[in-house]
Amino acid sequence: MSMKLFASLSLALWLLVATPTLSQSNNRYVMDTHGDPLESDEEYFIRPAITDNGGRFTLINRNQSCPLHVGLENTDLPQGYPVRFTPFAREEDDDEVRVDRDLKVEFVEVSSTCVQSTAWKLGENDTSIGRRVIVTGLDDGTHSAGNYFRIEETQNASIYNIRWCPTEVCPTCRFICGTGGIVRENGTILFALDGSALPVVFQKKDD
Ligand SMILES: *[C@@H]1O[C@H](CO)[C@@H](O)[C@H](O)[C@H]1NC(C)=O
Ligand SMILES: *[C@@H]1O[C@H](CO)[C@@H](O)[C@H](O)[C@H]1NC(C)=O
Ligand SMILES: *[C@@H]1O[C@H](CO)[C@@H](O)[C@H](O)[C@H]1NC(C)=O
Ligand SMILES: *[C@@H]1O[C@H](CO)[C@@H](O)[C@H](O)[C@H]1NC(C)=O
Repeated sequence: MSMKLFASLSLALWLLVATPTLSQSNNRYVMDTHGDPLESDEEYFIRPAITDNGGRFTLINRNQSCPLHVGLENTDLPQGYPVRFTPFAREEDDDEVRVDRDLKVEFVEVSSTCVQSTAWKLGENDTSIGRRVIVTGLDDGTHSAGNYFRIEETQNASIYNIRWCPTEVCPTCRFICGTGGIVRENGTILFALDGSALPVVFQKKDD
């Protein structure tokens, strides 16, 4: 038997043995629109899984002031900013992004006049819409919990919800958790918690 064949047989065996552990809860990978696992060193566009809910995720200049809000493009045109995911806890040499685990979400390749970080952050309960908006900036609180989101599976493969519930960051905290959805305001689309959940997909930037 050639060395090459032996190596690929070993790999196939290893995959057979290793794969079942990945299907355990909390260890499943988040998949992109091609069915490949999301990786922390790649960039992805986030967009709604169903039409008529807006285009790609982007930064919204709400009311001409900083910080910028997280929202969606009003059009299906290829606009918006890609994001990068940084897991809160990760093993060495492990680049894959997993479901139901705390992670930072950060817009990349952004040019904006606001000096804040482009990391997603839980904003305040907005009095005009009665929902907690998502803004950008660094949470300088004790745990930075406001900067950690998670990706939840839906009943459909490769379609997810985005949730704020950073229990890995602070297991003893009692959060009022919430799942992200959209709010329309004066022709813009904001991303906010506490309404109906928006199913999303992740599209690798270089596709
Ligand atoms: C928008 O800005 C105006 C003027 O600065 C202010 O009065 C108003 O409350 C702001 N609206 C929101 C929703 O922030
Ligand atoms: C949205 O429009 C309404 C009415 O024109 C205005 O009162 C309100 O301040 C606007 N809100 C923002 C955030 O621009
Ligand atoms: C946000 O405020 C609304 C009232 O404007 C309230 O009904 C809701 O419970 C608040 N949400 C949270 C998470 O505190
Ligand atoms: C998910 O699948 C169900 C049926 O299994 C379907 O009715 C629903 O529209 C799907 N949702 C999305 C966002 O594709």
